[in-house]
Amino acid sequence: MPIEVAGLTELAEAYADKDPKEIVKLALEHYAPRVGVSFSGAEDVVLVDMAVKAGSRFRVFSLDTGRLHPETYQFLDKVRAHYGIPIEVFSPRAEAVERLVREKGLYSFYRDGHKECCGIRKVEPLRRALAPLAAWITGQRRDQSPSTRSRVAVLEVDAAFSTPDHELVKFNPLANWTSKQVWDYIRRQGVPYNPLHERGFVSIGCEPCTRRVLPGQHEREGRWWWEEETQKECGLHAGNLRA
Ligand code: ADX
Ligand code: SF4
Repeated sequence: MPIEVAGLTELAEAYADKDPKEIVKLALEHYAPRVGVSFSGAEDVVLVDMAVKAGSRFRVFSLDTGRLHPETYQFLDKVRAHYGIPIEVFSPRAEAVERLVREKGLYSFYRDGHKECCGIRKVEPLRRALAPLAAWITGQRRDQSPSTRSRVAVLEVDAAFSTPDHELVKFNPLANWTSKQVWDYIRRQGVPYNPLHERGFVSIGCEPCTRRVLPGQHEREGRWWWEEETQKECGLHAGNLRA
């Protein structure tokens, strides 16, 4: 049974300090099979691991922007084989990409900012991925960005993607976990991970918009490094910018 919207805030408070596994279980209990893990091909693989172990039916989807690293594509297939689960891969609309590239070239984001390209390559496909779902599960964490994610709740109504006819609940089970806790889990449970992490990449997105960080640099500095900290949300989590 879906969670009553009126009770969401209270439940979010009750689950604020719970183990991510419990939050994943809660999502599956209420929304399976209309719940999907939004998997970027990075360390959010822990959510796939937790959902598989919870034992209910769920979906996993990835947004293939067409600009991911080869290692990330290979990793998506590795996860598919490792867990024996389908990963639904959503591609952007060809005409929209062609128009953007024809008008502005392949690297317009360095000049015009990332919003337009992310809108075409991530946000529009995300709308299609979310259409059949009542809830989605993301790997957002508060420690990923002091500027935009410091108030991410473990569950919330998705204000950015809900419509009057389609209410959508967003679960962020890792909200309170640190990067170290995620990596302790990966090591302890023998979870497969993207080999880019062994080469200095911490936060991983599209290849042209992601770079390695040096020791002591914040992971978000490796994403859209030419832009203001406070603008570093690509539209998947647009709600964070209103905070
Ligand atoms: S982003 O908005 O800045 O790109 P980030 O890389 O921090 O997001 O990832 C946060 C969460 O957003 C991921 O754990 C995942 O749930 C979702 N996400 C980001 N990129 C993708 C993608 N390409 N496909 C599916 N989900 C994604
Ligand atoms: Fe385009 Fe960069 Fe956004 Fe990927 S992260 S969709 S390449 S602007």
